[in-house]
Amino acid sequence: PITPVILSGGSGTRLWPMSRPEMPKQMLALTAEQTMLQLTAQRASDARGELGFAPPIVVANALHADLIEAQLRDVGAAAQALILEPTGRNTAPAIALAAIAAGGGDAPLLVMPSDHVIADTAAFHAAVARALPLVADGWLVTFGITPDAAETGYGYIKVGQALAEGVHRVDCFVEKPLRDAAEAMLASGDHVWNGGIFLFRADAYLAALATHAPAMLDATQAAMDAARRENGRVWPETAAFAASPADSIDYAVMEKADRVAVVPVAMGWSDVGSWDALHAISACDAGGNACRGDVVAIDTRNCLVRADGKRIALVGVEDLIVVASGDDVLVLPRGRSQDVKKLIEAMQR
Ligand code: GDD
Ligand code: MG
Repeated sequence: PITPVILSGGSGTRLWPMSRPEMPKQMLALTAEQTMLQLTAQRASDARGELGFAPPIVVANALHADLIEAQLRDVGAAAQALILEPTGRNTAPAIALAAIAAGGGDAPLLVMPSDHVIADTAAFHAAVARALPLVADGWLVTFGITPDAAETGYGYIKVGQALAEGVHRVDCFVEKPLRDAAEAMLASGDHVWNGGIFLFRADAYLAALATHAPAMLDATQAAMDAARRENGRVWPETAAFAASPADSIDYAVMEKADRVAVVPVAMGWSDVGSWDALHAISACDAGGNACRGDVVAIDTRNCLVRADGKRIALVGVEDLIVVASGDDVLVLPRGRSQDVKKLIEAMQR
């Protein structure tokens, strides 16, 4: 079976005020009744599709242990291991902890961010199935999304020759390009975005680390050798883990490794990176509004409104994002939601 590895380390500040350090984006029900974490666990569970899935390994911030266990329990899921990081060292070490916990053998790991939307699970499973033969052969596989804008927050992949039906060699991998490079890659027509979802054998990933990031492999191995374990929870040893270089899988491994393949797939993917992105994927009423919670809107068009614990009443407005959560209310025009980051900085001053 495939072992899902669910990464839950980000704090998702761009979805403030609903997303907060103690309740980050992946723990929120943004697109459905279930939270993003729950949807991720269900997407790679045995109840779905033809693929065989083992229970997931979840790698998370230690602060969220209880919340994660409760949310998984609510959907009838349970992690085979909940690895609790004392501090975030980014995705490459987090995935190393999971690969070591999985035994480091030839088991395929399906690494998934806990905070993405995939509307078409069947298409996702079909893409995973296409990749499996190359994965068994030791390739590192990622999933490619057709770009529709010159985003600079994503990785770009130049799609190379076909290795098998629907699976291509990665000609080059460019993580988070500058604007000009992103525009050129968008125009080229032969680049896809990296979806941030990976499939590889645990031993293939650890071998890539041994070559390209040996200090990271040593630190994560030492942290796991000295880990404390209790009731499915695993605490990597703090000092050993802190000694690991902090880097993402994209920079540490994918840009450097040799046998890297991409499976382009149309599966309704979004990383829900902003309130605008959420509006774009939300079901809207006849007026183009996506409202949740206690919302009264008259003569209102194309708004995203989330009322979490407060009533929001709107008259005669258009193209607004209005979000109330706890003591905070956010109001901004659509198209400006990348600036929430600036708001957080301003509030911290
Ligand atoms: N456990 C753990 N520990 N998880 C982490 C950590 C960490 O230290 N850092 C990040 N994560 C989790 C995040 O919660 C998220 O689910 C996932 O790993 C990816 O991290 P991001 O920080 O969101 O990465 P990104 O958005 O900058 O870039 C990645 O995703 C893009 C697609 O959304 C890259 O893979 C890009 O190439 C890709 O295009
Ligand atoms: Mg992200």
